[in-house]
Amino acid sequence: MAIAGGIAAYKGAELVRLLKKQGADVRVILSRGAREFITPLTMQALSGEPVHTELLDESAEAGMGHIELARWADLLVIAPATADVIARLAHGRADDLMTTAALATAAPVAVAPAMNQQMWANAATQENLILLTQRGIQIIGPDQGEQACGDVGPGRLLEPAQILQALQSRFSSRQLDNKKVVITAGPTVEAIDPVRFLSNHSSGKMGYALARACAEAGAEVTLISGPVHLSPPDRVRLLSVTSAIEMHDASIQEADGADLFIGAAAVADFRVSNPAREKIKKNAQPDLTLTLVENPDVIAAVCQLARRPTLVVGFAAETSDLLSHAREKRVKKGLDLVIANDVSDPHTSFGSDQNAVHLIGALSEQHLALASKQVIAEKIVSILAERLSEPAAASS
Ligand code: PMT
Repeated sequence: MAIAGGIAAYKGAELVRLLKKQGADVRVILSRGAREFITPLTMQALSGEPVHTELLDESAEAGMGHIELARWADLLVIAPATADVIARLAHGRADDLMTTAALATAAPVAVAPAMNQQMWANAATQENLILLTQRGIQIIGPDQGEQACGDVGPGRLLEPAQILQALQSRFSSRQLDNKKVVITAGPTVEAIDPVRFLSNHSSGKMGYALARACAEAGAEVTLISGPVHLSPPDRVRLLSVTSAIEMHDASIQEADGADLFIGAAAVADFRVSNPAREKIKKNAQPDLTLTLVENPDVIAAVCQLARRPTLVVGFAAETSDLLSHAREKRVKKGLDLVIANDVSDPHTSFGSDQNAVHLIGALSEQHLALASKQVIAEKIVSILAERLSEPAAASS
């Protein structure tokens, strides 16, 4: 939880108390401005944890550094968030601990604005808020009424209990309690020789966001991941694999009897039939011909399991005729649902932080508009959890 400098900082203190009462572990970031209104000692007493104030502070970095802090959080709440903090977040600045943590965290971010009504109404602030919303940041409030400066209008920080209520959906989502979920993510890497390989641009972001959302919804999650540069979310069991064959074998073993299988990985369709044992020398032959053989289809094999997961969900990465290709894939592979994404659009492609998807079932289709991959993942998980709770709905 981060508190920016404003007269409403004292309400941030009350919010920390309420979050602790709900059983949350809370670590507080106090901006320099906030320390004019409220002391680190107060926040330490309320949170029961050391308070973080500076981006580059030797003693703090020796304990929990700013990146660790950003990774530790399941949710970052900035309350109050001033017009200045909102502007810096909108423009991706990392000039203090609060904005750096917001950039460095993979967790959802929620912002509760508090400012003078004229600053709130200013076009710059409103445009900044639109940017934040498009990136999936939750905006909570503000309230209307009399302000500390004597003005009347929108811009007051919501009461801490109201902010808590807005955040509660994130804590109380236990829609997947007691469910076993298996997710594949990232690329597969197919060896040509000991130093060269065939692969693709998948970063793993979509699959890891899904793993995080499932774990937050209470599921027991196994994430089968190709090589990526991401840390596994908390409470997720990671199985690292390299090739499509390894991903296939791990998936068959883990998906057996699972409740939900999600194939977000970009599995290489082909591998080199006979990878060289030694590095292939450039001058050994004028042309190099690689013979490729087809890899097993991981998700189609999962659909064939005797103890098939109740719900098997694939992704379709398409560059043209998105919906028709995706519909065909759903039927051909025997999936309950396919999630189509357009990878020709840089906003929704491999490696991007955002996605926009179509969920395609046998009887119904649904569009989720552009948002951060984490927000898209949370929406997908909520839809899947609902389907899982109605057994007949698996095929809808
Ligand atoms: O990782 P990111 O950078 O965040 O990017 C996300 C993503 C674009 C990789 C992801 O959203 C996505 O679309 N994943 C599926 C990519 C893909 O390989 O699509 P496909 O249309 O080729 O495959 C369809 C489905 O079959 C997928 O669920 C895939 O996991 C599965 N498949 C494909 C081939 C194969 N041999 N085995 C499989 O299981």
